[in-house]
Amino acid sequence: MYLRPRGTRYVNFLTGLHQSMLFDWYLEIGCRSGASFAPVRSKTIAVDPFFRVELNVIGQKPALHVFQATSDDFFAGGFLERNGIRLGASFLDGMHLFEYLLRDFIGTEAASDPKGVIMMHDLVPHDLAMTTRNLKGIRGAWTGDVWKLLPILQRWRPDLTLTMLNLRPTGVLCAANLSPGNTVLQDNYDEIVAEFLDTDLEAYGVEKYFDSFEYTDAVAMMEAGFSMFQGVALDPAAAFVPRKLST
Ligand SMILES: C[S@@+](CC[C@H](N)C(=O)[O-])C[C@H]1O[C@@H](n2cnc3c(N)ncnc32)[C@H](O)[C@@H]1O
Repeated sequence: MYLRPRGTRYVNFLTGLHQSMLFDWYLEIGCRSGASFAPVRSKTIAVDPFFRVELNVIGQKPALHVFQATSDDFFAGGFLERNGIRLGASFLDGMHLFEYLLRDFIGTEAASDPKGVIMMHDLVPHDLAMTTRNLKGIRGAWTGDVWKLLPILQRWRPDLTLTMLNLRPTGVLCAANLSPGNTVLQDNYDEIVAEFLDTDLEAYGVEKYFDSFEYTDAVAMMEAGFSMFQGVALDPAAAFVPRKLST
């Protein structure tokens, strides 16, 4: 049985996170309108090959670097390494095919602060149809098969701390206790992709998948001051306040 997350909406969580926490750097992959990164007050890197921005997305950010590119091209360009960037918080919401998210995770962890947190969207589908890998067959909400990241990370990276937040509509998996120098996923990438490519959720086992995690209540985490992020958060007094210098 598919167990839907019943918590608050993911955008409420992200907005609350960025209203109360400040990070040195925030990365978002897959941004579309910018609604999910508009509330960020930290230095931000936004990556999407096809932006649809009509909002004020700069807001209170001291810096916003926008890459209209695929995440593969973004990582290949070396911006993070060249600038010595250590990511405090990241939200991965780009192409919803698991091998893309796996590469996004690998590239993001390599540039993360070890105390940082990587959030991954859409790992909890409501039915088989929304997990399709057929990009032409997508109707309505689409999680793709990024659910596969959970068993992959559980098996290959037991050192990570994984938390499935019960955020509507389709969950957010958070990975903490990061190891930027760990190359296990990169070294075994072909084997991992080959193992999971032709599996769908019903062949893998819906019960098995939903038995493999417990939801953490996102509202309780918000009320506890976003405890998971506290190790990497900056002093809130360091928040940048834009000032108008001319009339
Ligand atoms: C679900 S939307 C993101 C929604 C946004 N994060 C929000 O919550 O409002 C997915 C986005 O991923 C982008 N995308 C597709 N392929 C991508 C890729 N290879 N790299 C990065 N982004 C990609 C799409 O252009 C689309 O804007």
